[in-house]
Amino acid sequence: MIEFQNASYAHNKGYGLNNLNMSIDEGEFTFLIGPTGSGKTTLMRLIYFDIIPDSGIVKINGFSSPGITQKKIAMARQSIGMVFQDYKLLKDRNLFDNVALPLHVLGFKSSEIPDRVDEALDLVGLEGKEGHYPYELSGGEQQRASLARAIIKEPDVLLADEPTGNLDPVSSFELVRLLETIHETGTTILMASHNYNLIKGRGRQILELKNGQLRIR
Ligand SMILES: Nc1ncnc2c1ncn2[C@@H]1O[C@H](COP(=O)(O)OP(=O)(O)OP(=O)(O)O)[C@@H](O)[C@H]1O
Ligand SMILES: [Mg+2]
Repeated sequence: MIEFQNASYAHNKGYGLNNLNMSIDEGEFTFLIGPTGSGKTTLMRLIYFDIIPDSGIVKINGFSSPGITQKKIAMARQSIGMVFQDYKLLKDRNLFDNVALPLHVLGFKSSEIPDRVDEALDLVGLEGKEGHYPYELSGGEQQRASLARAIIKEPDVLLADEPTGNLDPVSSFELVRLLETIHETGTTILMASHNYNLIKGRGRQILELKNGQLRIR
């Protein structure tokens, strides 16, 4: 489902990822760990084709990075849900509209949208906050809003970049449990976290980034 072949990427100031090789099969739930600045977000952005490797290949769900066009990137993203570390909620839209956005992009009928938004907000525990703008939500609520927006289209692949970064320990644990529930419906999940305590002992593949290199733990 996701594959890196000798993929390298350097940011303009030089930091980046060096010659990564890995693969994640369809239906797997994989954790990505590594200290702050180790490149977890960079790796996630590569999978989302937000950035393209300088050399090597990144493949996801049948799409491959070399020479990929904007049109193909848009197609690839139809089946990828991304929870951004910095949420990327639209400031001038309320919670309902933020979460509904992917459905509009995919051309869902207006009549189908409210029920699906309700369902996604229920799952992440944000029911009743539909009318709140991002600045009227707490950090943890914005984070869960970002998760709701990522899962509403029932993507094949869910990329969750530090999705518990702003949650208390109990909520963090519950969020991982929620991801496990989503995984049980067949979704392939990659979750980045620097909180090893949260993810250890869950019987999942763990990828570890260190100094731009990747190893399987
Ligand atoms: N747009 C950018 N331009 C230049 N350097 C960048 C850019 N984004 C990230 N970096 C650098 O690349 C390295 C990896 O950053 P990245 O955000 O991928 O780390 P991370 O593992 O996600 O960290 P965190 O746990 O803090 O989220 C860091 O040294 C960072 O300073
Ligand atoms: Mg990061």
